[in-house]
Amino acid sequence: MESATHRFRVRRQDQPGSAPHPSEPAAEWRQEFPYVWSEDEVVTRRDTLYFLLAGSGALCLATGTLALIGKLSEGSPRKMVPVARVGELAENRWKVFAYPDEYAQGILIHLPGKGLVAYSDVCTHLSCAVTYQPESQRLYCPCHEGLFDAATGNVLAGPPTRPLPVIELEEHQGTIYAVRMVLR
Ligand code: FES
Repeated sequence: MESATHRFRVRRQDQPGSAPHPSEPAAEWRQEFPYVWSEDEVVTRRDTLYFLLAGSGALCLATGTLALIGKLSEGSPRKMVPVARVGELAENRWKVFAYPDEYAQGILIHLPGKGLVAYSDVCTHLSCAVTYQPESQRLYCPCHEGLFDAATGNVLAGPPTRPLPVIELEEHQGTIYAVRMVLR
């Protein structure tokens, strides 16, 4: 039967950093898997904290960089497409036009007292086409009753969460051109 003294010795040897007394036999596991604590690279709490802080900082930096890149790429390349003649649309009238190519469409509105504004007519929810409601000066999506402010393109109601992309306009010699689509 194992004596209490021997059990105590074995327990002491298991303590990190403890070395068996020269006169004591080393525990069996220590003989099979010798481990020298003095040669171990101990990771302190300070090291761990430093690592976590450095990791968080790197993550923040990467997120910010990606957001900046995303922001810079939100504007589509400049492409001039004639969409109307000056004076063609009376106040509170609207029309659709192909932009930036024949597969996509914009909506041009003459807002009372504000002039011409243009947006992509593709609803930011599930891509149905929006129409202008002159009586409320809102853009309406019939699919799920999404509503957008015609002055800003911002969402007023319904499931869409993002505003309509703005189409920038320029006038040259009596013609209104769509020049760029800006995602927001
Ligand atoms: S597609 Fe426009 S509200 Fe759903």
